[in-house]
Amino acid sequence: MEKRTFIKTGLLGISAFLFSKKAFSLEYYPNRSDKKWAVLYATWCGSARDAGVWISEGMDGIANVFDVRENPDLSQYDHVVIGGAIRAGTTSQQLQEYLMKNREVLKTRIRGYFVVCGNMMRPVGPEQTSGFIDNHLAQICGVNNVPSKVFLGRVTFGLMEPDVRKQMQEMPGIKEYDNLSRAECMAFGREVMAKV
Ligand SMILES: Cc1cc2nc3c(=O)[nH]c(=O)nc-3n(C[C@H](O)[C@H](O)[C@H](O)COP(=O)(O)O)c2cc1C
Repeated sequence: MEKRTFIKTGLLGISAFLFSKKAFSLEYYPNRSDKKWAVLYATWCGSARDAGVWISEGMDGIANVFDVRENPDLSQYDHVVIGGAIRAGTTSQQLQEYLMKNREVLKTRIRGYFVVCGNMMRPVGPEQTSGFIDNHLAQICGVNNVPSKVFLGRVTFGLMEPDVRKQMQEMPGIKEYDNLSRAECMAFGREVMAKV
């Protein structure tokens, strides 16, 4: 390649990277489907991202998986699963704002909800489903009666913002753990798909 062409191509590449606002979902799998599925998640430390990817794996990988920070346009999808990590009893402000802003687009497309929480390492039950899903995600979206699941997540101090890590490490009884189950996430993906 000529030096001038090489420089031009490089500059074009850099500007495309800097100015592109397009959301890129995770497309790890070769399978295609006639129905378009998306999983949207909000995470701080990655457990909700992994849950989202594993939910898609349960669907044989046909769902594109988006971080809410990408601000994806989900109007081109037929079916959407929405989920997020829990801090102080709620999902992230950014997810809540996205859901409110995109209520109209999402209301005919939502097929499932999930959250990932710590629940002080105790098993989850109806209380968490009602608090994190029925009275939180489903209420914001205005869509009920779709499958939902509360997963236990992870605590990894090294992935937290420094001030949060310090606070967490000072809390009595808090230690690192990993309770997120790929098998449970995949089963939920299968459950959601079977309902459609
Ligand atoms: C600052 C902070 C606050 C949290 N608050 C809650 C909470 O209110 N309820 C709960 O069940 N879990 C809580 N957790 C646990 C997280 O939900 C759990 O670690 C989850 O896996 C985090 O998901 P993420 O890795 O996708 O961010 C909290 C964790 C942190 C770090």
